[in-house]
Amino acid sequence: MSNRILFVCLGNICRSPTAEGVLRALAARDFPHVPVYVDSAGTANYHVGEPPDPRTVAAARDRGYDLSVLRARQVSPADLVEFDYVLAMDRANLAALNRLAGATRAHLGLFLEYAADCDTDEVPDPYYGGKDDFQRVVELCEAGARGLLRHISGQRSK
Ligand code: 4NP
Repeated sequence: MSNRILFVCLGNICRSPTAEGVLRALAARDFPHVPVYVDSAGTANYHVGEPPDPRTVAAARDRGYDLSVLRARQVSPADLVEFDYVLAMDRANLAALNRLAGATRAHLGLFLEYAADCDTDEVPDPYYGGKDDFQRVVELCEAGARGLLRHISGQRSK
C-alpha cells in the first residue's frame, strides 16, 4: 500500500504548494501512522524553479505552515506513473492532466472531492486576487487535506 500524492495547479506557486505543505503538516500531526509521500507541480512552466508566491507563503505562515523551502516544477507524464493520487485544484488543470495521462493507474481527480462540508469542489486561482483569496486557499486546502487523510487512513484499516 502506498500513498503517493501529487497536487497540481497551473503555476505551482499558489494553490498546489499550499496543499502540499498543509497535507504534510496535518499528516505528521494527526495521522502519524499513515505513511504519505506528497509533492506538487504545475501544468504550466511559467514559474519553474521559483519559491511559492510571497502572498501564498504569508497566508500559509499565518496558519502555521512553512512553505518557504518549496520550489515550482512542471508536471510530467512520469508523474502519472509514479503517484497514486494526482489531484487537481480545478477542472481546467484536471483536463490538462487527462490530456497528459493516457493510461494511468493513478487516481486522477479534483482535490476537494475529498473535502467534507465544502461549498465548492474547486480551489479558485488567487493569483489576481487579494489577501482574502489567499486565505481562502489555505482554508480549502485544510478541508481537502483532512478529508483525503481520513479517506486514506480508512482505506488502510480495512
Ligand atoms: P497557481 O496560481 O496555479 O495556484 O500556482 C497561479 C500562478 C501563476 C499564474 C496563474 C495562477 N500565472 O498566470 O503566472
